[in-house]
Amino acid sequence: MEPPSPRALPLPDGFLPPGCTFSGQDWALLARRWFPVARADVVPAKPRQLTLLDLRLAIYRMPDGIRIGRDVCPHRGLPLSAGRIEGDELVCAFHGLRFGSDGQCRKVPEKLAPKTAECFSVTMFPAVERHGLIWTCLIPHGDPEIPEISSAAGDFDASDLASIIKLRSDFLMSIENFDFSIHGITIDPNHHLSLRDLALNEYQRLFESMGPAVATHA
Ligand code: FES
Repeated sequence: MEPPSPRALPLPDGFLPPGCTFSGQDWALLARRWFPVARADVVPAKPRQLTLLDLRLAIYRMPDGIRIGRDVCPHRGLPLSAGRIEGDELVCAFHGLRFGSDGQCRKVPEKLAPKTAECFSVTMFPAVERHGLIWTCLIPHGDPEIPEISSAAGDFDASDLASIIKLRSDFLMSIENFDFSIHGITIDPNHHLSLRDLALNEYQRLFESMGPAVATHA
């Protein structure tokens, strides 16, 4: 099992993304679940933006693996997904702050003195490869809880259209049967949408955002 990416800075208690469309309680519970956010075989070195539970993230490939962090530069709040990878550093496109794999700033351009690298860090999230996909969790705790696929997971080839469609179909069925009452998550029967439905909607949206290869319904 791949170790989670280091987190330079966890999300603060009570955090909600700007413009969040979930209730605070739902978001806090869903943020503890693992979601697939990209096909592992197509994550480029160039950072790319994705949205998970209304939180904007930047995903990119570093020499030591795939990294996922908040898409917010701690200098002026501009998107890090506009930046580039140089060696083992992510370079912000706007004023040139350089960040390591752990999200900690390594170098501040002279024009920003007297600020130092210690002043800046990015919230990072784990990036775990499973079933040909990259999974992450916004409030991780313990080992990754990634749903099993009903078929043999090793049969899937993430670059193959038929495999991806089958993966999605099996995966959503797997989630349909997932017991959200375990792991301390209870479902309010009066809620207009259950947590399971919210999670299913989010999985569906994420799969569809991965491109045409996964957009066809099985
Ligand atoms: S906004 Fe990133 S370095 Fe200024």
